[in-house]
Amino acid sequence: MTTAIGKSLSRIDGRLKVTGQATYAAEFNQEGQAHAVIVGSTVGLGRIESIDSAAVEKMPGVVAVISHLNAQRLAYNEHRGPIDPPAGERLHVLQGSEVRFFGEPVAIVVAETLDQAEHAANALEVTYSARQPQVDAHAGEQVVPAVARRPGARAEADVARGDADKALETAAVKVEAEYVIARENHNPMEPHATIAAWNGDRLTLWSKSQFVVNEQAEIAAIFGLPPENVQVNCPFIGGAFGTSLRTWPHVTLAALAARHVNRPVKLVLTRKQMFFATGHRPYTLQRIALGAQPDGKLIGIVHEGAGETSRYEEFMEALTSVTSFMYSCPNVRTSYRLIPLDASTPTYMRGPGEASGIHALECAVDELAYKLQMDPIDLRRINEPQIDEGRQVPFSSRSMLKCYDLGAERFGWSRRTPEPGSMRDGRLLIGYGMANASYPCLFAPASARVRLLPDGTVEVEAAASDMGPGTYTSMSQVAAEYLGIPVERIRFSLGRSDFPATPPHGGSMTMASVGSAIRAACLDLQAKAAVLAAKGGGNAGLAGQSPEALEWRDGMLFVKGRSDRGVTYADLVSYGGESPLVGEGTAARDAETGQKYSMHSFGAVFAEVAIDPDVKTIKVRRALGAYGVGRVVNPKLATSQCIGGMIGGIGMAIMERTLLDRRNGRPINAHMADYLVPVNLDTPHIEAHFIDEEDTIVNPLGVKGLGEIALVGMSAAVSNAVHHATGRRVHELPIMIESLL
Ligand code: MOS
Repeated sequence: MTTAIGKSLSRIDGRLKVTGQATYAAEFNQEGQAHAVIVGSTVGLGRIESIDSAAVEKMPGVVAVISHLNAQRLAYNEHRGPIDPPAGERLHVLQGSEVRFFGEPVAIVVAETLDQAEHAANALEVTYSARQPQVDAHAGEQVVPAVARRPGARAEADVARGDADKALETAAVKVEAEYVIARENHNPMEPHATIAAWNGDRLTLWSKSQFVVNEQAEIAAIFGLPPENVQVNCPFIGGAFGTSLRTWPHVTLAALAARHVNRPVKLVLTRKQMFFATGHRPYTLQRIALGAQPDGKLIGIVHEGAGETSRYEEFMEALTSVTSFMYSCPNVRTSYRLIPLDASTPTYMRGPGEASGIHALECAVDELAYKLQMDPIDLRRINEPQIDEGRQVPFSSRSMLKCYDLGAERFGWSRRTPEPGSMRDGRLLIGYGMANASYPCLFAPASARVRLLPDGTVEVEAAASDMGPGTYTSMSQVAAEYLGIPVERIRFSLGRSDFPATPPHGGSMTMASVGSAIRAACLDLQAKAAVLAAKGGGNAGLAGQSPEALEWRDGMLFVKGRSDRGVTYADLVSYGGESPLVGEGTAARDAETGQKYSMHSFGAVFAEVAIDPDVKTIKVRRALGAYGVGRVVNPKLATSQCIGGMIGGIGMAIMERTLLDRRNGRPINAHMADYLVPVNLDTPHIEAHFIDEEDTIVNPLGVKGLGEIALVGMSAAVSNAVHHATGRRVHELPIMIESLL
């Protein structure tokens, strides 16, 4: 029918963004607001001994200096949101003298202007008794995550089928390697920011968040308020990649400061502070062992992984999960451990778990291909599974083989000569590499509301967020599709905690979950409209019909199979004073579907690198991904998503790392000059291709979700390309010039 879904519309909010009219959290300035600046600990572990605020309080413009000495005692009631670490206790800010990590907020200075607040914050004298923090993951104890034992945990600590260790002993061909991946910080364009304003015991937050309904619940629990007393607004996000899924301490601090000084307070983190307490991709250590028959058939896989966490919370990600179903293999053993450090809690960062775990697996598979003297894609084809062998259930759909075909063809894989160092462009060494990608089709209960207005336009509302993928546009397309009206007549609003609740804008589940809820709300609206028409609404042409005998076609309501006497939305909405007509919908995945099927997106990603043989500079010259992600709602936006994700993967491969000073836990390179991310000059020609994949199982829309998977696999493809160019296997990310010297 109208087919709004599948159209490459440009983003609806594009003009607002490029003309500066899109308002981000820090731009909702309030009458009479003061500015707050966080003072962070300059030791990595210990206790605050003294805070000398008297002198600072007399400085120009200073309104208050707040620390554990004078801060409100906060309720910190239990709150377990779906994306909060389910074990441990979240950080309590300004409630005591203990310091758990470098940069932990120890005070907050509020002043009339930002300059005054910064100046005063810098002048604040804090003394500590410091102890030596332990921030070295290699020296840390590995513990079994308690969270893995909780029901509903996304990953398990230990998984096994067959006897992988024994199979490896007898395998004809074997590879084994250890992989280290650096801690990474998200570094979106927009820093974390919150403006807080109290009205009695009601709090309004304009706050950068990927999950406004959770931020509402979290802050309500911290302050001991009923959730309805807290309103969180966030219409736009300037990139996030996972760092705004949780409600970090600065949000609490903004609200606490606003209450303390009894006026609205604005708090924006500095670039440096974004390295302290807003999550990061955990440092990981992994060991992979693969055993195969001479024909390439895998007979044993061992994947042991460990990731850092903080001392006060267990952060867990799906580091080793993919290994149980990526390939056909009778003997597989995976384990996952946590390494508690004197550092802040890590969090989800684009492709969390999968990005790091697949890196190790796919580098090892490439290494095995060389040992077997096989083409890496051929080796993968031989080991393509028919079902999810880990769970012994079918995939809802799996287009891996098609991804190899399409990706290899578009990339020109056949031009590759396998011998390392055998391809050159002038004096540059050229390498081609590839890897598999996968990410689960996550889904969580969502709700939405659709309102038909007398002028024939439609308002759609869901709490949701849009951190950049184009949620405003794609959701409008879903509503247009299921209502059968032009997308121009849809106005979609998001980013308010008082809108119908939705899951986190993360885990690539927004389109599946919120989109399905909008679809349900549209169908509800149509059903209500049919009842109205049968009662004689609109032009009365359908009066007396049974609602079940009616059907919507091209935005008009007809008797089934007939094309006369149609009724439009506008006809109906003006009838009987019942306007606006409201449809409500929810969407949830039934547990049975989750039990019966293994639901994942798959992809094949490719990279070409050029390496200077003398100075070893690495340039990624081309990147390409072929993905099976179900239905693609907007190919243009989906392609943009993939380009962004692949750039993130290139950053992971050759640039990004946060280094901690072993002496005090200080992030040494907490600024954009030394924390490298790919800029335009580092960004190659990138292509994303989608398999025409129909999946009727994952959800009513048939979308699997997109976003995370676009980062997954790229670091392995680049690593494998580096090996192809140089003959060197580098087992630590990022791969740097010095890795190749
Ligand atoms: Mo994504 S790491 O769930 O924002």
